[in-house]
Amino acid sequence: MNGEARQAVILAGGQGTRLRPLTFGRPKPVVPLLNRPFLAYQLALLREHGITDVILSCSYRVDDVRGALGDGGAFGMQLRYVVEASPLGTGGGVRNAADLTRGTIVVLNGDVLTDADLSAMRSFHEASGSRTTIFLIRSDNPRAYGLVRTGHDGRLQQFLEKPTADEEITTDTINAGIYLIDADLLARIPTDRPVSIEREFFPRLIADGIPSFGWLASPYWRDIGSPTAYLEAHVDLLDGRARMPLAPPGDHEAGNWLGRGVKIDARAVIEPPSLLGDDVTLGADCHVGPHAVLGNCVTIGTRARVQRTVLWERVQVGAGAVLRGCVVAADTKVGVHAELGPGVVLEAGAVVPERTRLPR
Ligand code: GDD
Ligand code: MG
Repeated sequence: MNGEARQAVILAGGQGTRLRPLTFGRPKPVVPLLNRPFLAYQLALLREHGITDVILSCSYRVDDVRGALGDGGAFGMQLRYVVEASPLGTGGGVRNAADLTRGTIVVLNGDVLTDADLSAMRSFHEASGSRTTIFLIRSDNPRAYGLVRTGHDGRLQQFLEKPTADEEITTDTINAGIYLIDADLLARIPTDRPVSIEREFFPRLIADGIPSFGWLASPYWRDIGSPTAYLEAHVDLLDGRARMPLAPPGDHEAGNWLGRGVKIDARAVIEPPSLLGDDVTLGADCHVGPHAVLGNCVTIGTRARVQRTVLWERVQVGAGAVLRGCVVAADTKVGVHAELGPGVVLEAGAVVPERTRLPR
């Protein structure tokens, strides 16, 4: 990436409300995605585009974020943390990092999985004389996002966060949660109260005539902030639908990825694409996959069936249990012959009695 400063700020302080109960135990920025903390994928993308100086703007459960990512050395990055005593909102979160930033900074919502071409966006930003550029994508469901209208030259005309009235849905171009911002502009954000970057900062840039543009492209993109989206992100990565700088962890064998120390019964079936973490145990005649993601130390009982499901570390699935379309947090025990269907999300440490059927 060109330009003087190569810095990014990642907004990683939200409560992850829609991802509850998963986020009761682990904040959204570090929920596992193919057994890696989610932000590992954003860090890899940034690194691919020449950015290794990253500030994480945190609030909720910062110690867990720090525990998972540390100083960034493991990712070839330098990570620094700024921490809000109480949540400052998306604008306040970026403002809180202002003292550490200079030049044109990349700002990312800490829950978007993407292979966006940040370098192309940067080239556009520089060529157009923009001081704030918003990465735009088209969406079939724009009202769930920030709607952005631009002129023919890409100049921002309107930013409308999650409009409710039908007549306000006048475009299908939405904010992808990726910005290039001239750090000098952050002084416009007040420090004495929570501020939304979407509801205040962007609309005021437009109102004040500060050169601000949208950059429309069609990368792989998904906000992982709901259980369905979180599960779908796993499916997408297993299917190779995104051009990720990080390959799934483990040895790639017969379309599956296998961690170290896996114990697979000779009569177990692994249907690709699936991923087994380290020290996973599969019992006789069990059938995992397609699209099963098993965390480290997961055990699957005899004749159990696990399909299109994400299991965090140390989950135990009893004999004959069936899981389809589920997300199960760490240390959960699923009783024998339980049947868990699409949409079931279990919090860490849950105990599902034998023969339970969910959803009821
Ligand atoms: N530091 C900090 N402080 N971070 C915060 C705070 C806060 O008070 N509140 C939210 N965040 C972080 C979240 O952790 C997340 O990474 C990011 O800001 C966006 O918050 P979400 O809660 O995920 O917002 P959203 O998904 O409803 O909407 C946003 O993302 C859409 C794209 O996914 C908006 O930016 C929309 O305009 C956009 O379309
Ligand atoms: Mg989000």
